[in-house]
Amino acid sequence: MKKIAIVGCTGLVGQMLLKVLEERDFPISELYLMASSKSEGLIMTFKNRDYKVEALTPESFDRDIDIAFFTTSAKISKEYVPIAARKGITVIDNSSAWRRENAVPLVVPEVNGSDIKKHLGIISNPSCSTIQAVIPLKPLLRKFGIKRIVFSTYQAVSGSGKDGIIDFEEGQKGKPPKYYPHPIVDNCIAQIGEFVMAGPYAGYTEEELKMIFETRKILHRESLLITATTVRVPIPNSHSISVNVELKSPFTLEKIKALWEKQPGLVMVDDYKYQLYPTPLMATGTDAVYVGRLRRDYSVQHGINFWVVADNLRKGAATNAVQIAEILIKEQKNNDI
Ligand SMILES: NC(=O)c1ccc[n+]([C@@H]2O[C@H](COP(=O)([O-])OP(=O)(O)OC[C@H]3O[C@@H](n4cnc5c(N)ncnc54)[C@H](OP(=O)(O)O)[C@@H]3O)[C@@H](O)[C@H]2O)c1
Repeated sequence: MKKIAIVGCTGLVGQMLLKVLEERDFPISELYLMASSKSEGLIMTFKNRDYKVEALTPESFDRDIDIAFFTTSAKISKEYVPIAARKGITVIDNSSAWRRENAVPLVVPEVNGSDIKKHLGIISNPSCSTIQAVIPLKPLLRKFGIKRIVFSTYQAVSGSGKDGIIDFEEGQKGKPPKYYPHPIVDNCIAQIGEFVMAGPYAGYTEEELKMIFETRKILHRESLLITATTVRVPIPNSHSISVNVELKSPFTLEKIKALWEKQPGLVMVDDYKYQLYPTPLMATGTDAVYVGRLRRDYSVQHGINFWVVADNLRKGAATNAVQIAEILIKEQKNNDI
């Protein structure tokens, strides 16, 4: 049994974490829930028991905690994750704060689960879009090699947390946006995160850089050619990505499908004759990464296009984090034997 803290428990990912921990019957002996001071005293329920939310302070970690899930902004994670880690707590962080640090494994269990072993107290959960993208890419990389990837995303408003949901719901009542730079209702916004203002990536957004650098790190290919355009679309939940890949060696669509059949975490929905392909509605509330619309790209020698959809709050965040914690527990048990 583990002593668990959830920092950011009142947010969209924090609430989903509680749900997923309960669904998977994660072995918890003590549970500490933390958020900002404005949520202090709020009551949240886990397995029919009420828990009082505490305000996060530097002293929050002065007690016996085994694993802390952080589901806060990168700014809060930057400040508080080291405090927790210094107390010997293993941190699984959902923010972008630590993802690109060499000493911090960035993990999708079905792709690079063994990287967890290298952790020094902090493990990062990748961005939601990256998680769902790398699952179909991994077997392609292993079998054919990958020369270049082009990502184009269609990301739901829940990916922006509570602020995104509020703008979407209030926008439907005709109110102007408070969080997004443009109205999200009846619109698409080709900006996720801040723009990079200088250097070689000037004009890219933060989310686009996350997809490029996180994909390289997870696939252990630091120089893989990747570009990305990330777009917010007016749907409540589940992200979709159009993926264009140039492979290094010849392939057949049948071979790719056979590889995907065996890939853990992936469900193929791909039969154009019956208009079958993944949709956000299909993915929402589930933990699978859905892949379809596989076809050849004849504009290059060994090219393919496909479409990948997943629930950003579940596999894109909470479920992936809980899977990491489950591996930690399993490894600890093996070491104890
Ligand atoms: N949404 C997604 O699909 C998704 C997917 C992958 C990763 N992520 C990442 O996960 C993190 C959380 O995202 P989210 O969507 O859950 O955001 P959210 O809904 O806005 O929730 C943010 C959480 O942070 C807490 N918080 C804010 N200020 C705090 C402070 N000073 N001290 C302690 N807690 C504080 C909030 O508490 P209060 O309620 O008290 O303000 C809330 O619990 C972000 O880093 C995000 O980038 C999100």
